[in-house]
Amino acid sequence: MRIAVFCSGSGTNLEAMVNAQKRGDIKAEIALVVSDVAGCFALKRAEKAGIKALVVERKKFSSGKEFESEILKSLQKEKVDLVVLAGYMRLLSADFIKEYRNKILNIHPALLPSFKGTHGIKDALEYGVKITGPTVHFVTEDMDAGPIILQSAVTVAEDDTEETLAESIHKEEHKIYPRAVQLFIEGRLKIEGSRVRIL
Ligand code: GAR
Repeated sequence: MRIAVFCSGSGTNLEAMVNAQKRGDIKAEIALVVSDVAGCFALKRAEKAGIKALVVERKKFSSGKEFESEILKSLQKEKVDLVVLAGYMRLLSADFIKEYRNKILNIHPALLPSFKGTHGIKDALEYGVKITGPTVHFVTEDMDAGPIILQSAVTVAEDDTEETLAESIHKEEHKIYPRAVQLFIEGRLKIEGSRVRIL
C-alpha cells in the first residue's frame, strides 16, 4: 500500500507516521508528502526522511478544480492508495473525495462531533470542557463529520493554557493516528453508516 500525507504546517503527525513506519508499526510506504504551503516545516521533515514532497499552492491556479486536479494527477502517478490528512488546513472538494471514497483519513484535535473547524483546541478550552482529545475519522463531504475511527481522551488540567493542552493532545494524536492508519492497511475498518467497526 502507498500513502500520501497532506500537510500545511509543522508536520509532527507526519513525523509520527514516519517513525511508526520505521518501527514496523505501519506496514506501507509513505510515497508522497503534499503541501499547500511552501516552506512549511512539514516539508523539511519530509526531506529529512527522504520522502518525495510536492508543493501545490492554491494561488498558482485560477480555480480550485485545477488546483486539485494537479494534486490528483500526482497521486495517480505515485499510485497512492490512501490519503492521510495531517494538519492540512484546506477542505477537499466533493469531486476529490469521490476519487478516493473511504480512502481519506483526517485527524482533528477535539472529540468530534464537538468543536469542529480550525480551532478545535482553543474552542474546547474556552467552552470549559473537562475532557477533550483527538479524533481520527474518514473524510466525507461534510467537514469533520465522517465516520469516527479512533479517539483518545485528554483531561483538561485546571492550569492548562492553549499551548499546554495542545501539547497533551498532540502526544495522543501521535499514538492514535499511526494506529488508525495501520488498521486501515490491515483492512480492519468496516464502515457501517456513521459507525466504524474495528474488525
Ligand atoms: C494537529 O493538531 C491536527 O489535529 C490539526 O492540525 C494539527 C497539525 O499538527 N488539524 C486540524 O485542526 C484540522 N481541522 P502537525 O502539523 O504538527 O501534524
